Amino acid sequence: MHYGHFDDENREYVIERPDTPLPWINYLGSENFFGLISNTAGGYTFYKDARLRRLTRYRYNNAPLDTNGRYLYLRDDGAEDSSALSSFFSPTWQPTRIPLEGYECRHGMGYTKIHAKQNGIESNVRYFIPLGETLEIWELTVKNERSIAAHLSVFSAIEFNLWDAMDDATNYQRNYSTGEVEVADGVIYHKTEYRERRDHFAYLACSEPVASFDTSREAFLGPYRGWDSPQAVEAGQCSNSITYGWQPIGAQQIKLNLAPGEEKTIVFLLGYFENPADEKYDPPDSSTLNKRRVTPVIQKYLQPGQVETAFQDLASYWHDLLSVFQVDTPDEHTNRMVNIWNAYQVMITFNMSRSASYFESGIGRGMGFRDSNQDLLGFVQQVPERARERILDLAATQLPNGGAYHQYQPLTKRGNNAVGSEFNDDPLWLILAVAAYIKETGDWEILDVPVVYDNQPGTEDALYGHLMRALNYTLDRLGPHKLPLIGRADWNDCLNLNAFSSESGEPFQTAANNADGTVAESVFIAGLFMLAVQELNRIAGHRGDTQQIDHYTQAAADMEAAVWEAGWDGAWFRRAYDAFSKPVGSKDCEEGQIFIEPQGICVMAGLGLENGNALAALDSVRERLATPHGIVLHQPAYSKYHINLGEISSYPAGYKENAGIFCHTNPWIMIAEAMLGRGDQAFEYYAQINPSFREPISDVHKCEPYVYAQMIAGKDAPTHGEAKNSWLSGTAAWNYVAITQWILGIRADFDGLVIAPVIPTGWDGFSAVRVFRGTHCHIQVKREGSGNQVALMVDGEPVEGHLVPLSAINGKEKIHISVTIT
Ligand code: GLC
Ligand code: GLC
Repeated sequence: MHYGHFDDENREYVIERPDTPLPWINYLGSENFFGLISNTAGGYTFYKDARLRRLTRYRYNNAPLDTNGRYLYLRDDGAEDSSALSSFFSPTWQPTRIPLEGYECRHGMGYTKIHAKQNGIESNVRYFIPLGETLEIWELTVKNERSIAAHLSVFSAIEFNLWDAMDDATNYQRNYSTGEVEVADGVIYHKTEYRERRDHFAYLACSEPVASFDTSREAFLGPYRGWDSPQAVEAGQCSNSITYGWQPIGAQQIKLNLAPGEEKTIVFLLGYFENPADEKYDPPDSSTLNKRRVTPVIQKYLQPGQVETAFQDLASYWHDLLSVFQVDTPDEHTNRMVNIWNAYQVMITFNMSRSASYFESGIGRGMGFRDSNQDLLGFVQQVPERARERILDLAATQLPNGGAYHQYQPLTKRGNNAVGSEFNDDPLWLILAVAAYIKETGDWEILDVPVVYDNQPGTEDALYGHLMRALNYTLDRLGPHKLPLIGRADWNDCLNLNAFSSESGEPFQTAANNADGTVAESVFIAGLFMLAVQELNRIAGHRGDTQQIDHYTQAAADMEAAVWEAGWDGAWFRRAYDAFSKPVGSKDCEEGQIFIEPQGICVMAGLGLENGNALAALDSVRERLATPHGIVLHQPAYSKYHINLGEISSYPAGYKENAGIFCHTNPWIMIAEAMLGRGDQAFEYYAQINPSFREPISDVHKCEPYVYAQMIAGKDAPTHGEAKNSWLSGTAAWNYVAITQWILGIRADFDGLVIAPVIPTGWDGFSAVRVFRGTHCHIQVKREGSGNQVALMVDGEPVEGHLVPLSAINGKEKIHISVTIT
């Protein structure tokens, strides 16, 4: 069943009813200031760090769903019984949830628009954050479609968060006493803790004269009432309350008298502002907030013309980002995901990492080392300069032994062990990210940039040195089968082979690792290592560093031998060896006989391409792991807790890492299938988890049909096909890589642009525009046979193989590449 539809021309998803199976959200903001916004205006706003600088309060896990947002009420002051609850409604449906005669929400690139119609009153709200600003605009237009004049009140309402979202949600003995506000010229300033160590404050401003306001939640709502029925709105007036502690809010009343057919636009600003530490007060020795610097910012955006200009700037920003890669294939789901939503989602993962979504509370996690490196594979072509900065930030947290902190905090850029340490795959992902960056940009100089270890001045080493230490970290930690030791876990955070946790509630991520981990090994890391060696060797080749190439080529050959010796199970790759040196992911296991991860990564590293084992492994995946909703992580699911396996067996069967469809891993199989030339199979897997394909089963899938979710419940789950954890997942980057680079086959390489499509046999071709190193490459692909052989012509000249060399690209504004598949 559908709850809306795609409007590809406007790059929007249009939600047609407010009661979607879950809140369907969007993101506002592009650099330092961000908002999460649902289809009923729920969500919250923060500056840089969703935990430490949160402006507005949100209640996760609440009933009704999606409580707290950017609330507006429209009250009919002229209604017969204007004090009745029925005299007002929310033009975004929440929080009153009064059925609307008309409703539509359009989530677009960095903005959300919500339309409503009720009793002859039409309203449209547009929410967005202008580029480079630390404020959020809500532009509300109200139109009187009645034949008589309408006397209305608009009420705005937000609940301020006391900055640190963790403290805000837990430390009431303190925070019920700290809240402070100030109101001046209709602007409500939230200045909790400004009196001491903060020099920042939040504000809610409005373009119209404010008839009344409230800053005390109790005064606005009335005792024991909720946001669905505020006493002030019912009464038609706020009480100009000033709160001392408790829960500071911002609520404003604006009176609107509209003649028949008349419309009026009101601009609200929810902003964040920092004053210089020595200019906090005005006059300086008072306790009155200095508003001299913020006032011009507020005034600028309270003019509707300025709002439109800022909105157009945002539109061109997104237009430019998305123009880097546009395709036209026979499949509309592919087109809209590649051209719009998947490209958008990878940018959101760039901005948010895993911090703030409707499944990530914004409190728990910083930037993951492994996650950020993989995200980069998806967005590097859109924002190469920012990718460069990200790489250098990540490398600066790397440890001197080549290992990595599992995460770092975005505000401080320092690594920490808050979510555990010694995930032995972590450092290897840096090599993949750096290789992707150089392929995209040709910026070989990045390898010589001096970067510290563990943020310690004096430890500078060329980035190139960091990459070698990452490989050495694996080589320094080999186990009894000469396979890499797994450490705490590898890509699968929940495969905790050394933890042996029996303490209820103990976090698996930080539980002590037994027996200093010298036995349990990972076949997955072996595959990842080999993939990383290939990239490093090509990088070393460019530098003429033959000594390193010889060294790592030998290491990779030894690793490959170890995989065939101990990592191959006969028809698929094993997953690991546990702390007793027993195989995990083998036909000899009772449960967990086959895992998806090593089949993907080992084939991607080229293992088994020649001896037929790759084919066998992928056939085993199809036979044992594939479902109509995607490929599950392993089979059989664990039916009980295995202390030697850890968190993976803690989840009910079919969910998350216990045999869920962990969408992050599915593209590895798509890529592997494409490498084997099986385009139909690769595309079938692609289609199964592509959210646009899944739109007709939105009632089953539940999450947004325009972005990927981390997990879809597997075949062992009673709710097979139900998605969870949308938006912030490595799934976004890897699916983008799989479809654009391997199925469509257009991928940046060190020496040029590779064009090697492995498309479904039923497609007669496709066209694409890829901006690569500044050149617009117009690509026209035509299928003539049913294979995957390509013949390339660049600007009318034949080119051998499937690489368009840099010499044919450099210095040209535009080239035409025609591709014949036979
Ligand atoms: C989550 C983590 C990621 C991990 C995956 C599998 O997505 O963010 O780092 O690889 O789960 O456990
Ligand atoms: C939990 C989740 C897992 C995630 C990890 C990240 O273990 O189940 O999916 O990767 O936390 O810390």
